[in-house]
Amino acid sequence: MTSATAGATTGTTGQIWSYAEAANPVRRGLCEPLRPCSWPASLHGTGPTARLPLLPPADQGLAEGATSPALAAAFLRLLPGESLCLPQGWTSLFLYVLQGDGTLGPAPSLSWDRGDALVLPVSPRLTLHARTEAVLYAVDDSPLLRWLGAIPAQGPRFSPVRFDADHLERHLRQVAGESAAARANRVSILLGHPDLPTTRTVSPSLWAMLGIVAPGSVQAPHRHQSVALDLILSAPPGSHTLVGERLDAEGQIMNPERIQWESGGAFLTPAGWWHSHVNPSDQEARLLPVQDAGLHSHLRSLDIQFMPAPGPAAVHQPRQGP
Ligand SMILES: [Fe+2]
Repeated sequence: MTSATAGATTGTTGQIWSYAEAANPVRRGLCEPLRPCSWPASLHGTGPTARLPLLPPADQGLAEGATSPALAAAFLRLLPGESLCLPQGWTSLFLYVLQGDGTLGPAPSLSWDRGDALVLPVSPRLTLHARTEAVLYAVDDSPLLRWLGAIPAQGPRFSPVRFDADHLERHLRQVAGESAAARANRVSILLGHPDLPTTRTVSPSLWAMLGIVAPGSVQAPHRHQSVALDLILSAPPGSHTLVGERLDAEGQIMNPERIQWESGGAFLTPAGWWHSHVNPSDQEARLLPVQDAGLHSHLRSLDIQFMPAPGPAAVHQPRQGP
C-alpha cells in the first residue's frame, strides 16, 4: 500500500492499494464472508414485552444490531394489553404476525391478527399494541441506512400495506392447486406492493415470500445475491434446508450445512450460497423468507439461478418436490 495526499491544505491522506490487495475485499479480516446461522423459537417463547434482535455470531463482522449487511431482523414479543415502541432509522419495515392480535399506531391505526403481514414506510413513533399475547417477526433496512450515513426522507416512499391472512391463504391455496404446481420446484406466492410495478417486491428494499414445501419433496438448489432471512412457520419432522457455497458436477450442493427447521425459528442464508429446502415428512412445511431483494432487483444484481429439478436418483424421498 502507498499513500497520497488528497488535498493541498485540507483533507485526509488517501490510500492507494494494489489491485490484488483490494479488488475482492470479501474475505477473512476485511468484509467478513457471511455464514449460515439460525435462531430458535425459544428466543420469543417467554419473557416480558421486548424487541428480541436476531444477531449472528460476532465473527461475521456486522454492525451492532444488524442481522445481515443491509437488514435487521427481530422477534417482537408483547404481553396482553402492553405496547412496544419500534425503533426508527429504516425506510421499510416488514412485519409478520406469528401469534396474537392488536393494533399499530399512531392513528389511524392498522389492526393485525395471526397470519397477517404488513409493510410500512418510514413513520414517526410507530407503536404496537397487543390485545392478546403476541409475537411478530420484523425485518427492516436500518443497517443499510447506517452504512450509507443516510437519514430517511420525511415523506413516505410508498404507502402502508396490510396483507390479510385469509387473503394470503387463499392465493397460496390457489397456486398449490394449479396443475403446474405438481411439477413446479416450489409452491409460493410473492408479496408485491402496487407502488412498485417494476421490481414486483414488497418495498424498495425488501422482498417477501410465503411458501410451501410439499410433503416428501426436495427442492432443486437455487441461489441469489440477496441475503435470505427465513422465518419457519411450520416444520414437520425432518424438514430442513441444505446450504453450501458450490455445486458438484451433478448439480448437488457440495458438503452442505444442514439447518434443521423448527416452527417459529429463523435462519440466514448468505448471498450467493446454494440452498435447497427438504421435507421428508407426509405433512406440509411452510416458510416465509424476507430478503434485501427489492434493492438487488433495482440494482439489477439479484442474479437468481436455479438448478433443474433433481431426477429420481437424486431424490431420497419417493415423491418428487415441486
Ligand atoms: Fe432462496
